[in-house]
Amino acid sequence: MSGCFVTFEGGEGSGKSTQLERLAGRLRARGLDPLVTREPGGTPLAEGIRELLLDPARRPPPMAEALLMEAARADLVANVIRPALGSGRIVLCDRYDDSTLAYQGGGRGLPAELLRTLNRAATDGLKPDLTLLFDLDPAAGLARRARTAASVNRLDREPEAFHARVRARYLELAAAEPRRFAVLDGALPPDRLEALVWSALEPRLAALGVRGAV
Ligand SMILES: Nc1ncnc2c1ncn2[C@@H]1O[C@H](COP(=O)(O)OP(=O)(O)OP(=O)(O)O)[C@@H](O)[C@H]1O
Ligand SMILES: [Mg+2]
Repeated sequence: MSGCFVTFEGGEGSGKSTQLERLAGRLRARGLDPLVTREPGGTPLAEGIRELLLDPARRPPPMAEALLMEAARADLVANVIRPALGSGRIVLCDRYDDSTLAYQGGGRGLPAELLRTLNRAATDGLKPDLTLLFDLDPAAGLARRARTAASVNRLDREPEAFHARVRARYLELAAAEPRRFAVLDGALPPDRLEALVWSALEPRLAALGVRGAV
């Protein structure tokens, strides 16, 4: 059995973590044991890189930012995600390689082909079975974060145009791979989104034969 790999993507404050937690709760209620992780992060090395990357005091050049992301990703995929999938678990990951294409590509303007090559190298070609894209006006997402987030991170401080480019690139990625992506309207209420997330995932779990899912 090969598990099921689900990634959560979208801009700042779009509702990724809220829905990831809800989905994890639903799966646990069915007796499943999802592995929950995040990017950048999820291993001691990658969490260290996360701190460096989100520190507002730093200004890494875009290529340094991209390579740090990929280093964190390579560690997470090899040490956490692949082993969990190998033992048949459902893996829920808060951001994954589409984030690099949207932020370092769309946002910072690094060449998409180069980023795809780096992604392939870091992940050894591992792609999600399902990617949930929470699409939301960046101003609304940042306003949510400003109300509730414990701290302002380096990406929150990017100008509106940056976040608009990230959003546009995400939508292009989703249009190019409609079977992998489910695009969800992040402005919907959390309960409604939770139901949509479940409708997107359930048929995939059934198709993959994940035990206890249906
Ligand atoms: N559908 C929703 N409608 C309104 N508010 C929401 C919704 N989903 C989440 N929120 C609230 O918006 C804020 C950001 O949500 P959440 O942390 O889930 O987003 P995120 O995409 O994980 O953000 P981040 O970019 O900070 O990781 C939280 O305060 C959360 O309670
Ligand atoms: Mg989050």
